[in-house]
Amino acid sequence: MVLPMYIFGQPVLRKVAEEIDVNNYEGLQELIQNMYETNKKAEGVGLAGPQVGKSIRLFIVDLDVISDDMPEYKGFLHAFINPEILESSEETSSYEEGCLSVPGIHESVKRPVKIHVKYTDENLKEHDEWIDGFLARVFQHEYDHLDGKLFVDHLSTFRKQLIKSKLVNMTKGKFSASYKCKANR
Ligand code: NI
Repeated sequence: MVLPMYIFGQPVLRKVAEEIDVNNYEGLQELIQNMYETNKKAEGVGLAGPQVGKSIRLFIVDLDVISDDMPEYKGFLHAFINPEILESSEETSSYEEGCLSVPGIHESVKRPVKIHVKYTDENLKEHDEWIDGFLARVFQHEYDHLDGKLFVDHLSTFRKQLIKSKLVNMTKGKFSASYKCKANR
């Protein structure tokens, strides 16, 4: 089932999400499937719980869509439950990001290149590993959502000023997106 996408201005996007009790969260697998479906429909590479109105520490990543350019991500479709970022490399890189909850805005964001992470996957297996490349970038973007942060928060004062009116319009429901949204319309 495709879920409505919560758009910039919806309070749930600014809340710090709650940890999930993996053994006692009813409907977890169904929610993960719905998030995969919702993300695919919107042609995203990742989707976090708060973006579908669930203030829980869960995000999914689908990198299969970019596997034509990056074959190492062929079939990459995973859920990350209660993720943590334990360490980050000093080396950073800048890359253009967008967000399904902030439609129509793309801006370059600087982030660490490598991160040491812990998480539970969709099969409830625990992982502790270093990740890098595109996955590390998407992980950090999605992880931010769980702390009520959005990629636009990382921009310089100058860049923020340039997109301010678009963001204000978004909070009033003035934006366009090709997928089902939850906004102040
Ligand atoms: Ni996002």
